[in-house]
Amino acid sequence: MEFEGRRIVIAGAAGGIGSAVARTFAEEGATLVLADLPGDPLDELAAAFAEAGVPATAVATDVRDPGSVAALATRIADDLGGVDVLVNAVGVLRQYRVVDMSPEDFDAIVGVNVRGPYLLIKHLVDLMPAGSAIVNFGSVAGFVGSDGSWAYTMTKGAVSSMTFGLAQELAPRGIRVNAICPGWVDAGFTHHMFTDEAVRAEVEQAAIGSHVLGRMARPEEIAQGVLYLASERRASFVTGTNHFVDGGFMIKR
Ligand SMILES: NC(=O)c1ccc[n+]([C@@H]2O[C@H](COP(=O)([O-])OP(=O)(O)OC[C@H]3O[C@@H](n4cnc5c(N)ncnc54)[C@H](O)[C@@H]3O)[C@@H](O)[C@H]2O)c1
Repeated sequence: MEFEGRRIVIAGAAGGIGSAVARTFAEEGATLVLADLPGDPLDELAAAFAEAGVPATAVATDVRDPGSVAALATRIADDLGGVDVLVNAVGVLRQYRVVDMSPEDFDAIVGVNVRGPYLLIKHLVDLMPAGSAIVNFGSVAGFVGSDGSWAYTMTKGAVSSMTFGLAQELAPRGIRVNAICPGWVDAGFTHHMFTDEAVRAEVEQAAIGSHVLGRMARPEEIAQGVLYLASERRASFVTGTNHFVDGGFMIKR
């Protein structure tokens, strides 16, 4: 039980990957704070943990809103007194050709994918003791681009760049900062694309061709990468990295 009693904050906890991260930390004895937009997915996750006896608190949070993130920080300070691991697994995927993208659409994707992690780190970092860790969600998309997804890939590149700079800024405080960069994951965004069985088959076929390992990742495999980066025992000398858990996606390029 490597994370017994450790205080883990997961933003985007109700998502396909975030919920797998939460379950994997729970298996290792962690105390969880589940932050996501209010709604059934967050409530259902919290209820499942309550039924299983896992110490987990759901805090409805909009990561775009400084007031909401500040309230999350206050709640954590009052209830737990600090944060040992912050996982920023929030994100939205929007696809637009540049001429079709309005400034409002642009702000919407940057607001969640870039402003969100910034606000979370800004408000939670003073609760993090030496030996704690931040894990941001980048993506292979931040390195290779993709048709129609230029704005999404831009935000993922920004997350990686943010990670490099904050790893330097926070090193003197003993806080490690890394980005996990998945390829395609069989959950979350990928599933949002499955509008019908034909599209599902098409996406799955494309995934086979895109990854050396010939398939998408299971969300639990991404979660194991997050736990590695979060672990002071295993990754004490790892900071400022893009940690690819991508089934060989990058080496096919
Ligand atoms: N699924 C993939 O193939 C894949 C690949 C690479 C990287 N990623 C990254 O993994 C992370 C998780 O994505 P996912 O696939 O699980 O998608 P998902 O849609 O299942 O999860 C994203 C979560 O973010 C939450 N969220 C969105 N806006 C929010 C806001 N304003 N405030 C609080 N929460 C908000 C959503 O409610 C959702 O629970 C993202 O950062 C994504 O970029 C996903």
